[in-house]
Amino acid sequence: MAKAAGGGRPAYGAECRSLWRLAPGLAYLNHGAYGLTPNAVLAEQARLRTEMERDPVRFLDPHRLREGFGAARTAIAPALGVPADSIAFVENATAGINAVLRSFRFAPGDRVVTTDQTHAGVRAALHHIVGGAGGQVVEVPPPWPGAEEDALAEAVGRALEPGARLAVFDHIASRSALLLPVERLTALAHARGVPVAIDGAHAPGMIALDLPRLGADWYVGNLHKWHFAPRGCAVLWAQPGAAPSVHPAVVSYSAGPGMERFDWTGTRDPTAVLSVTEAVAFHGRLGGAGLMARNRGLADEAGQMLADAWGTELAGTADQRLAMASVRLPGGLTPDFETAARFHDQLRRRRIQVPVHPIGGALWLRISAQAYNEMAEYRRLADEVLRQTPGRARRPISRAGRAAAARAKGYTPVSGESR
Ligand SMILES: Cc1ncc(COP(=O)(O)O)c(C=O)c1O
Repeated sequence: MAKAAGGGRPAYGAECRSLWRLAPGLAYLNHGAYGLTPNAVLAEQARLRTEMERDPVRFLDPHRLREGFGAARTAIAPALGVPADSIAFVENATAGINAVLRSFRFAPGDRVVTTDQTHAGVRAALHHIVGGAGGQVVEVPPPWPGAEEDALAEAVGRALEPGARLAVFDHIASRSALLLPVERLTALAHARGVPVAIDGAHAPGMIALDLPRLGADWYVGNLHKWHFAPRGCAVLWAQPGAAPSVHPAVVSYSAGPGMERFDWTGTRDPTAVLSVTEAVAFHGRLGGAGLMARNRGLADEAGQMLADAWGTELAGTADQRLAMASVRLPGGLTPDFETAARFHDQLRRRRIQVPVHPIGGALWLRISAQAYNEMAEYRRLADEVLRQTPGRARRPISRAGRAAAARAKGYTPVSGESR
């Protein structure tokens, strides 16, 4: 692992980029989309695949696999603050949410409450399963650009009355990138007797977790986004009382009273799960809690710089922002999906990978900050967006100007790394 010259802290930015296989010259500012698997974890997965191909029957033996899954559970459980046997591995957050939804028998008149920031895939599952049974999905619009927690709690409280069957809340919303007050929303739902599933697709590896403290009944989190596992690897946690009722969306012959019933859902490649131990070790080698703090600081500094450069705004408060930030784009761009896709493609042609979304009557761009990113990449983005939205007054983005703007806003720029 690359170390900074003379220091114990792991090297970040360009200095550690070779730990991944990113295309040269690509400013990859969208770690949040699908994560990015480090070489060390890919090597472990390749080793496991070779072993599997030498004798698939032995490799996929259910008893042997159970041991491997047990080791993976033990490796990731501390990062979630839960006992190892309370989690199951699923392929992704979508599969975990589907498992929870399919464990209900919805009927006409049932209501499920969520927010309109819910990920499109999860929304589709809600409408298919709940709507398909004649139920209703109530989508509460959170206040936007996102600061008023009381207003959200009030709106959710109203939607839960009378008698919702289930509530599904994002922990970190996909498009806005904001942390939702899930503990408070869960308490509201429970006070009305409504069980809660939390979609924490982005949370493991991005923030420290203590799942029981959140109070929800089920929690789903991807390991392939921010915890460096190979793609196709997520966890589903159920609090002890909720475990017996949840089954995989695809049922096979894995049996048992608890989450081990998720271990076999038909023939598939289990090597992503079996690489979790290496993924957890890699996250630790890159700093663990220190990496998460560094990424959050970088996203904040970069987000502030972009909003200043474009004369626009950042979504949410500093407390609501983590290792991603949504920044409003300048210029009178039409706030629809076609314009967003076109703008994204223009940036991609300039070797910048970053998502653009219409939210609340404007176009917003969501940056991610991961170990391999550095400020120079976001400054390229700032310049490129200004170039593509002519007619906007350009604000100074010199180092002195940024530092002064940072001081005025009361945040601390991330360490002196590769500016
Ligand atoms: C909040 C949220 N939920 C669910 C998903 C879907 O994740 P996956 O495709 O891994 O199931 C995403 C993906 O970005 C997300 O941001």
